Amino acid sequence: MPETFSKLLPCTFFFLFTLLFLSINLASAKSNGFSNVLSPKKLGLEREKLGHLHFYFHDIVSGRNPTAIRVASAAMTNKSETIFGAVVMVDDPLTEAPERNSKLVGKAQGIYTSAAQDEVGLLMVMNLAFMEGKYNGSSLSLLGCNCVFSTVREM
Ligand SMILES: *[C@@H]1O[C@H](CO)[C@@H](O)[C@H](O)[C@H]1NC(C)=O
Ligand SMILES: *[C@@H]1O[C@H](CO)[C@@H](O)[C@H](O)[C@H]1NC(C)=O
Repeated sequence: MPETFSKLLPCTFFFLFTLLFLSINLASAKSNGFSNVLSPKKLGLEREKLGHLHFYFHDIVSGRNPTAIRVASAAMTNKSETIFGAVVMVDDPLTEAPERNSKLVGKAQGIYTSAAQDEVGLLMVMNLAFMEGKYNGSSLSLLGCNCVFSTVREM
């Protein structure tokens, strides 16, 4: 296994996710640790409501209960420095705080696949399915590029 990627595999790693979104739904909402309502006036917006979700994404690739498992790869995938072609199915916990045992606010469910040959760049195709507060039962679909060695990634 190439050294760059094998460094990643034995550990559980997590990302901080923040999502900003607009909606024209004017229903009132209470603040809690997971989400809060931002002031549209201060941001120069009229009717739209601006929300902010803040949570941690745990991608557990090894150990007794992995939440990410490789389901497919090509013949050359293991020889590739970026494991190009590997397809991983995930059911990753999203939590309120960085600790894995902190409150579960949702799951990231879907697929990521190594789609770049000259860097570790993952194609992310998944739903962020929320199960906390007023967002219980709602999901956001994520499609984007996750360049694993970049400190900040936008998807
Ligand atoms: C590639 O590596 C993975 C993970 O170590 C392993 O599960 C898989 O069997 C290997 N595939 C091949 C074709 O060697
Ligand atoms: C979320 O909704 C499900 C289905 O309605 C319910 O069983 C569950 O208790 C709810 N969870 C929270 C944290 O409110």
